[in-house]
Amino acid sequence: MKKIAVFASGNGSNFQVIAEQFPVEFVFSDHRDAFVLERANQLRVKSYAFELKEFENKADYEAALVELLQEHQIDLVCLAGYMKIVGSTLLSAYEGRIINIHPAYLPEFPGAHGIEDAWQAGVEQSGVTIHWVDSGVDTGKIIQQVRVPRLAEDTLESFEARIHEAEYRLYLEVLDSLGVDRK
Ligand code: GRF
Repeated sequence: MKKIAVFASGNGSNFQVIAEQFPVEFVFSDHRDAFVLERANQLRVKSYAFELKEFENKADYEAALVELLQEHQIDLVCLAGYMKIVGSTLLSAYEGRIINIHPAYLPEFPGAHGIEDAWQAGVEQSGVTIHWVDSGVDTGKIIQQVRVPRLAEDTLESFEARIHEAEYRLYLEVLDSLGVDRK
């Protein structure tokens, strides 16, 4: 039975969809006031939160994360709106066991604003990608991706909402495909 942890920095809607279907060992947030922590409480999922600025440096911060992951014997780390670049400490301990969701069809529109960048570029379609995490920004090997059309009547908000719906479906599919057992 593969054990998963979810890392999220803010809202946590992807976390919620995952946790409703899969047993999540814990969620970690790098912001102590993130809404994802309230979602975790409601779903009775264990949560941890600490911030990079509370540590001397990123290596120490990530060492604390590695310790948490080891304590809980986590097999797969699911980044879902975790807004930090994974550094060498976490990567060297868990490379090949960390996946990320990106709200665009990589390699198109990497970075922190995948939805807005696609919208600004006036694309006819964008998408969602789930990939393995490596040392680059949204560069790791792609596991699965799906196209999402931009409709003529779309506003940025409706386009964004459709991307998020696609994210939720894709995350569940990918976890199934990686052999994570549902609840
Ligand atoms: C998602 O669009 C994810 O792809 C991106 O950040 C957003 C997080 O949303 N990396 P949420 O916190 O899961 O609601």
